[in-house]
Amino acid sequence: MTEAMPENRFLEGCFAPIDQEYTHEVLPITGEVPRDLNGSFYRNGPNVKFAPRGDYHLFAGDGMTHAFHIEDGKVGYRNRWIETAKFKLENEVGRGVINPMNPFDCEKGYEEFVFNDKDGLANTACVWHAGKMLILEEGHQPFQVDPVTLESIGTYDYNGKLTTAMTAHPKVDPRTGELIFFAYMSTGPFESDFTVHKVDRNGVLTSSECIKTPYSAMIHDFVVTENYIVVAVFPLTGSLDRAMVGEAPFAWEPERGASIAVIPRVGGNAANTRWVECDPFFVFHYMNGFDKDGVITVDGCQFEYAPLFPNAKGEMMPDVAPYLSRWSIDMNQANPRVVSNQIDPIPSEFPQCDPRFAMQEYKVGFLTAPDGDGDGMYNQLGRFNLADNSSERYTFGPRDTTFTSEAIFVPKSDDAPEGQGYVLSVVTDLPSDTSALYIMDAENLAGGPLAVAQLSNRIPVGFHGGWRPAGS
Ligand SMILES: [Fe+2]
Repeated sequence: MTEAMPENRFLEGCFAPIDQEYTHEVLPITGEVPRDLNGSFYRNGPNVKFAPRGDYHLFAGDGMTHAFHIEDGKVGYRNRWIETAKFKLENEVGRGVINPMNPFDCEKGYEEFVFNDKDGLANTACVWHAGKMLILEEGHQPFQVDPVTLESIGTYDYNGKLTTAMTAHPKVDPRTGELIFFAYMSTGPFESDFTVHKVDRNGVLTSSECIKTPYSAMIHDFVVTENYIVVAVFPLTGSLDRAMVGEAPFAWEPERGASIAVIPRVGGNAANTRWVECDPFFVFHYMNGFDKDGVITVDGCQFEYAPLFPNAKGEMMPDVAPYLSRWSIDMNQANPRVVSNQIDPIPSEFPQCDPRFAMQEYKVGFLTAPDGDGDGMYNQLGRFNLADNSSERYTFGPRDTTFTSEAIFVPKSDDAPEGQGYVLSVVTDLPSDTSALYIMDAENLAGGPLAVAQLSNRIPVGFHGGWRPAGS
């Protein structure tokens, strides 16, 4: 049983951790689960087990993965903590002894733990590739679990070839099956670099290229197109000097400028990377990107500045909302520059595309949004039409009692037209303290859910999810 938690906004309401692992072979269903939807839908997020040390941050919770197994119109569910080294240690001693966000605040006797930890928290995202389910957290190597039982297997390092972390946002090329990912600060804490890795469709790590950056920066997501790998370096800087004197290790420093590394997909390295200047805005997540005739297009949810982090003086800035924006980068020019245009007047986050159209010209995206025009709890799912920047939206319930997380698109069949299929979302009803899986027709969001699979527990606010098709 989880002990009492301290007062903290990330330990209350829809964020509050749950204290049990459930296994349900069959969930009660309202409506009808489409018979052509077969596979597993995953959600991953922080779910701290023991009362945390220090001022708890959402990013510091022990990872918990939730799996909905969908087969022949039925839905099963299970959730499991990811049994990282920190989780196992604290389980043994029966209390929180590690502060993963501050190595200097671990209980006496565990001072070295964070410095030597290989597993991290496994609390951010997941990817299914080459027959392996990997749970991700950008500061550490991936953590492998069984895709059905969610049993923890351990850190996965591609037979010793992977010596860096893995971003929480690796990209799978739908045409080649290749997995491309990066790690920032890849040669050590606060180093000014990132390393790009490629893994072939069989799961063999084939290349790793380290590229120096203008300064040490936190980089959350990136973009891959048919011919380029695009890594934006925004001035969310990392500083050992600040950390050593007790100031913010990561801070927003717009005066340091922003630039974007454009790396050739084939044979890309530090020498042939081109750096493109852009204004110092910020993006956590990209929807997709493609290139055509040397012009790169990138779509992402863009903030005016990095939220959740202080400036270099340690002052937190007001909340700021992200808006879907389209970049154009003309690589035919001698000195290309990022031209960014906001294409959606409504704030949104967690952008997704039809995965069969990743890295290529595409027409449809999906996103999560608050209804109304302010920031706030996400209670709405949107389908965005990139041909005319219009959108169709569905509101799951009132914003003060309903929360939804990142939606995942699953195509109806391998050869269905782009955007034809289903959108899967977890929706939480705060008054009943329960969550449910909503299965939506991606071409008719307004029609409401095709099926709702109801849980007796709540899935706490998490970050990302994923899909494993049946038989893969
Ligand atoms: Fe993310």
